[in-house]
Amino acid sequence: MEFAQYHDRLQRTAAEKNSEFADNGQLLHLINGGQLTPNSIDLLCDLADRIRLLSREKATAAALQTLLSHRRAMLYFTQPSTRTFLSFMAACQILGLTCNEVRDPKTSSEVKRESRMDAIRMFSSYFDVIIMRSPLSSFAEACSYLMNDLRREERRWVPIINAGSGSDEHPTQALLDIYTLKRSFRFQDREGSGQRFADLKTRHPDLTKGFAHKTYTFCGDIGRGRTVRSLATALSQYENTTMHFVAPDVAALRLDSQLRDQLAKRNVSVFEHETLDSDFQGRSVLSQTDCLYMTRIQREHNSADDENRLEEMDLSPFQLTPERASKLKEYTPILHPFPRDSQVQEIPEAIDLDPRAMYFRQARNGMWARAALLAHIFGVAEELEEIETHSHGRKTI
Ligand code: NCD
Repeated sequence: MEFAQYHDRLQRTAAEKNSEFADNGQLLHLINGGQLTPNSIDLLCDLADRIRLLSREKATAAALQTLLSHRRAMLYFTQPSTRTFLSFMAACQILGLTCNEVRDPKTSSEVKRESRMDAIRMFSSYFDVIIMRSPLSSFAEACSYLMNDLRREERRWVPIINAGSGSDEHPTQALLDIYTLKRSFRFQDREGSGQRFADLKTRHPDLTKGFAHKTYTFCGDIGRGRTVRSLATALSQYENTTMHFVAPDVAALRLDSQLRDQLAKRNVSVFEHETLDSDFQGRSVLSQTDCLYMTRIQREHNSADDENRLEEMDLSPFQLTPERASKLKEYTPILHPFPRDSQVQEIPEAIDLDPRAMYFRQARNGMWARAALLAHIFGVAEELEEIETHSHGRKTI
């Protein structure tokens, strides 16, 4: 068994594990979406807003770059990545961290039969944080246990950030999704006035700001989409949420029982559908949706059997056509972690100019959210405040 020495720890529930990934409200590692509590979400989103604002001016951007100029990051990405890799790199640059990468394990000593855990410990000798993406679900988590053991023995350890683990978890994607939603659910206009919310209230009297009292619809590869698992878990902490999961009728792609049970325990109302055209209580699901989260079918995880079934399957029920988009509420953000599949076209380009399409903004928000996470992990929030004070106080965002 892979990571046998951590077997018992890996088998525990997320809730049991998460206390080990933080110390007094301070994240030591970010491994799963359940660590994003309402408190840490507020804190990280606030940091992201402030870093975003300070990055606008040359003087304050330069000051930001001094915050972590004495730190180095290792980007260990042994699975394809564009956005996560580049936005982490950009986030490091914003805060002055230097970074290096290993993307192909064949270029490291793993070819000399070095164990994965030895490789990680070596990285921790030269770098101050390891940001890692791997096809192995438990790898990042096992690495955080290795680091915690070293920490307990008062040896050198570094934070581990999970940048995508197998089909399991992708907590920093959840963080940027949440950051994007938090900004959307303020219902502000560009000037930051409250007028837009007041206007929307006249047509949607039940509308509230924030994540609670909302209907979230997730569409596509629910079973294997790690971003869905991390995001749904984080959102389940808010009051009175309904979640619709729309997926092809292939066992591996549908909502798995573990996530369903976990959401049910948090009192989320969960419903499953096989098309975006489904009705719920007499009205279309789309017309009741406050946030639509689209995903691609993760073909890289297909078994030969899945491949055959999907090959024959009509995937148009999982496509956000302009006609379907017209059923969404006027304010409903459309999210997608990207990449979108250019053949399946779960979101055709025709949707890109729709003001509710958030996916490009979401990708840019990834940079701010990841910079916020690094600033938090390295504990530089106070220094950030000093930069703000020197730049004539805080402005509104
Ligand atoms: C996602 C991933 O890697 O899980 N991409 C990303 O990080 N933005 C989604 C995907 O690959 O479909």
